[in-house]
Amino acid sequence: MNVLVLNGPNLGRLGTREPDKYGHDTYADLVDSCERTAVELGIEVEVRQTDHEGEMVGWLHEAADSRRPVVLNAAAWTHYSIAVRDACAQLRAPLLEVHLSNVHSRESFRAHSYISELATGVLVGLGVRGYTLALRWLAETAS
Ligand code: DQA
Repeated sequence: MNVLVLNGPNLGRLGTREPDKYGHDTYADLVDSCERTAVELGIEVEVRQTDHEGEMVGWLHEAADSRRPVVLNAAAWTHYSIAVRDACAQLRAPLLEVHLSNVHSRESFRAHSYISELATGVLVGLGVRGYTLALRWLAETAS
């Protein structure tokens, strides 16, 4: 199994960005955790981040065409991007939506996700562990 872990805008600034909400782990730590977990689980993983919506849509098309499972933290696009939502609708393997923070305990605009109805599962509020748990679920369930 070859999983794409896709991260949206501002997630490259983890560690310095609002650590009270997103924790002290850096983006490099997030990548490292995913890669180490993948080795442990015997799966392949590729972790990417972009601040550009079109690039994210292109990566989702790539995942759709190659039938790769996706772990997606679409960050702010979660709450307003129909383009990202429509790209997710084309996926043909499991989609796990992840958010570091508990989006349901924050501002009301974060409670709505355009992606959740398309996702196989949603992990929120577990920090970087949300990503590694998503990978574990995929390795155990979707292989
Ligand atoms: C986030 C939550 C979003 O509301 C926010 O815009 C982000 C990060 C999270 O991981 O908690 O950028 O997706």
